[in-house]
Amino acid sequence: MTKCVGVLTSGGDTPGLNAAIRALGKALQGCYSTQMIGFYDGFRGLAQDRSVRLDEGALSGILTVGGTILGTSRDKPHKMPIGNQVLDMTEACVQTYERHHLDALVCLGGGGTHKNAMRLKEAGLNILTLPKTIDNDVVGTDVTIGFDTALGIATEAIDRLHSTATSHHRIMVVEIMGHRVGWLALGAGIAGGADVILIPEIPYEVESVAAAIRKRGRAGKRFSIIAVAEGALTKANVEELHKALAQKKSADNKDEKKKAAAVIDQLVTAHSHNTLRLAEQLAELTGVEARTTILGHVQRGGAPSAADRLLATKLGTRCASLIHEGRYGVMVGTTKQETVVVPLEEVAGNRKYVPLDHPWIDSARRAGAALGD
Ligand code: F6P
Repeated sequence: MTKCVGVLTSGGDTPGLNAAIRALGKALQGCYSTQMIGFYDGFRGLAQDRSVRLDEGALSGILTVGGTILGTSRDKPHKMPIGNQVLDMTEACVQTYERHHLDALVCLGGGGTHKNAMRLKEAGLNILTLPKTIDNDVVGTDVTIGFDTALGIATEAIDRLHSTATSHHRIMVVEIMGHRVGWLALGAGIAGGADVILIPEIPYEVESVAAAIRKRGRAGKRFSIIAVAEGALTKANVEELHKALAQKKSADNKDEKKKAAAVIDQLVTAHSHNTLRLAEQLAELTGVEARTTILGHVQRGGAPSAADRLLATKLGTRCASLIHEGRYGVMVGTTKQETVVVPLEEVAGNRKYVPLDHPWIDSARRAGAALGD
């Protein structure tokens, strides 16, 4: 019987997903006479058995196309909203896999996807994953599909903000995606020559950012660019959060736990407005007019960069050869230009933060950027 492999894309989309689907499918069909089908909208399409045959024709012309031809969602197999209920659809996913006589299922995704892929592995499926997210926070790989494209977009945005900041002698605060990690803000901040770079890994003080702007003023620089990751927190935010988390941990009854959880939710919501607040505070503290730009999903849209197409093709084709060899339960990543095969257990549930001794942090400081600490 001809072999058949399933593929799905899950979590936030990124440029380069189609390039990866194409590479995987072409290598499976061309090198190993293996067919491929795609499931729509991540794990939801798998649970509901909504699929499409990805033959030569379907894979043609998608290398340069942004987004994912399969659609995506943030649904989890074990907790899926169906109608007005939340159901465990793990068994439905297993049944779809069996109905199609799949030899393996390839899941393209970030942190959440890896946890879900692990669950399906534990349910007995032959799972492989490819790491994708513009956040670049998947462990076991130097870089994820989509990061380079987003880095280019965010850097270009900072370049463009420079000219208008100079003309108007303003502070330009630019928010860059990255809820938990600062790879994108740090990379784009350095590449775009931001004067201050704020990332979740280094809690900041507003006064310290204001001091950096004043120092620039004294040196005759009448504008400043502040690159801030969406998840960057002040030192005070971090203290509040730690306190609330400790309260939740030590709560000895359900009601207290609920109350503590509500406080945490409130804090998280309040922190999501940090960028706008920061611009106001900086204007007040420095007397310099400030404006905010939130780049948002622009960073996830459009055609993948050449580097992302190369990465997606490298990982997709390697994944096909692993399936041919019967190696499952792994993520295909890359370190030092080589592809690496990492057990899912090492990836699922972990997050790759920017290490405080990372060369980018040292370079940013030496090149004159303030990091708000
Ligand atoms: O996980 C990637 C990411 O782009 C984050 O940087 C961002 O916080 C989040 O997705 C946004 O998610 P959504 O598209 O679901 O709003």
